[in-house]
Amino acid sequence: MPALTVTEHIDNAVRKIDRSTAIDHWDRNLGRYDAEELMSEVLGRKLTKGLLDRVLDGTSKKRFAAMVARRVKGEPIPRIKGHYPFRGLDLLIRDNVFVPRASSELLAKEAIKALRRQRGSQVAVDVATGAGPVALAVANEVRTADVWGVDISTDAAQLGKDNAHRLGLGNAHFRAGDLLDALPRRLRGTIDVFTIHPPYVLGSDLKELPREIREFEPLVSLTDGSDDGLGLVRRLAAEAHDWLRPGGVLLVEVGTYLSRRTQATLRAAGLVDVTWTKDELGVTRVVSGRTPRSNARTAG
Ligand SMILES: C[S@@+](CC[C@H](N)C(=O)[O-])C[C@H]1O[C@@H](n2cnc3c(N)ncnc32)[C@H](O)[C@@H]1O
Repeated sequence: MPALTVTEHIDNAVRKIDRSTAIDHWDRNLGRYDAEELMSEVLGRKLTKGLLDRVLDGTSKKRFAAMVARRVKGEPIPRIKGHYPFRGLDLLIRDNVFVPRASSELLAKEAIKALRRQRGSQVAVDVATGAGPVALAVANEVRTADVWGVDISTDAAQLGKDNAHRLGLGNAHFRAGDLLDALPRRLRGTIDVFTIHPPYVLGSDLKELPREIREFEPLVSLTDGSDDGLGLVRRLAAEAHDWLRPGGVLLVEVGTYLSRRTQATLRAAGLVDVTWTKDELGVTRVVSGRTPRSNARTAG
């Protein structure tokens, strides 16, 4: 068989991916996007015209074929690549840990803004941190801040640690535990910002999720088992008063459809100045509230 060019390998892969019944084909060009992204990953660079016309070498050919075979079986692209870009950071991804989403960049941005308004020592805690995207972006962009990421999954906490180490972010610390159990007690009353991108899918909605999410994301990263998807947020809002400094902020990332209920949850927990902001795509809301500046709680 004659040696094929990069373009010809991509075209063959597009045909295979397009035929796959294990993928939700939400865009008719998905096969091409995926094949090009995988080829670019194999070659370690952008696909230029000159590159596309070259014959693909044997090692790259094998690697590309293996990646395409995984994609055809339904595996999401970031899991195949093993890394994901988040606010300029290249984050490692592993099985059993939720793949970060670009939509969470807004949560990180809001946390960074809040921290930069703060004089003196800055402490941020990212609850349900997963691979640590939000915690790591905050630690990277506010180097003076002490940043903690906590997650019930030991795999997630380990991945956060490994990502921090790889990125040289000595101000980012990761611990495994339920909600805030793993945080050092000395942080009580000192935290400036809590962030959380919780598992907010309703149990009854799980079967409606795209297969790539349902089959490849850990269940604990999708749902907390509560009736309204806000069980973890409710628990955090209740505990926030003991951990945030007066005037400290809680930032919650949820789907737009949960925005109002999340705001009501924060108010019911006695947080004040409850408001929200949205991302450019309009799919995510970051709902925020803060503890009163004096110690007296405001009734919900
Ligand atoms: C939607 S994922 C978000 C992960 C990460 N923040 C991100 O944006 O990529 C939700 C995370 O919540 C974690 N989680 C679920 N229940 C938890 C609990 N009780 N305490 C701490 N983390 C929890 C899961 O392990 C998962 O990593």
